[in-house]
Amino acid sequence: MARMESRRDESLWVGEELQQPHAQSDKAVRVKRMFDAIAPTYALINTLFSGGRDRAWRRSAVRSVGPTASDRLLDIACGTGDFARAFGRCGTKPGFVVGCDFAFNMLTLAAAGGGGMARWAQGDALTLPFSSGSFTITSCAFGVRNLQDLDSGLGEMFRVLAPGGRAVILEFTRPSRRLWRWAYEFYSTKIMPLGATLVSRDRTGAYRYLPSSVVSFGDAESMCARLRRVGFETVTATPLTLGVVTVYVAIKGQHERGITQRQQ
Ligand SMILES: C[S@@+](CC[C@H](N)C(=O)[O-])C[C@H]1O[C@@H](n2cnc3c(N)ncnc32)[C@H](O)[C@@H]1O
Repeated sequence: MARMESRRDESLWVGEELQQPHAQSDKAVRVKRMFDAIAPTYALINTLFSGGRDRAWRRSAVRSVGPTASDRLLDIACGTGDFARAFGRCGTKPGFVVGCDFAFNMLTLAAAGGGGMARWAQGDALTLPFSSGSFTITSCAFGVRNLQDLDSGLGEMFRVLAPGGRAVILEFTRPSRRLWRWAYEFYSTKIMPLGATLVSRDRTGAYRYLPSSVVSFGDAESMCARLRRVGFETVTATPLTLGVVTVYVAIKGQHERGITQRQQ
């Protein structure tokens, strides 16, 4: 891939935009610029500030869909490729893996990340450049919260799945136990943004956006309802680390034609 696009260092998340990130009509533009800017330190910050839990969460999510060699996997909003690669490290790897993201700098690092087991494609999760029914697993880790239009993104995850295919989503949620929630939110709103901003030398406000986008995002129940609404037949939600993240598994019925949002 070509040279990484240059860093844009202006602050993207202040005031109203920070309080209500999901309500911004240009959220997608801001999100793309933010990830292009933080790409070089993105994976390091994840591991440092989750105490290495991010890897364990991805492994759990992979196990939850039991991949086999005959699976064709599309990892949506793949970023630097950590989730797609986690599938490659599981017992039985999917036979075919594609990672897709709209941020060029994230994708460049995914392609440079080695492993050789995946192909990488630049594309928008809201209009995926793949035919209906072309995959048996769709996955998305820490991506759906960043979408401009969540329902369209979930609809696309459904559309590109073959009948009987499964979708797995890993996303931050708010812990339900009050004391743990308080402790976790103190960490994620006060300590993490300071530390992560310092280490990454970020100027976009990415690590203030992160906790704000989690607090103002829907809960696990509403995510399950949305997944059912776009057509998934069976939906489960499993909290990990006392609810800091949730793994959703959604299965497409065997008799679905696989066309919801766009006809291809
Ligand atoms: C928090 S990162 C997650 C990366 C990776 N899945 C992981 O587990 O580390 C979110 C990613 O979503 C991507 N993203 C957000 N909106 C997108 C969209 N509409 N289409 C494609 N990628 C998108 C961003 O560019 C970013 O790489």
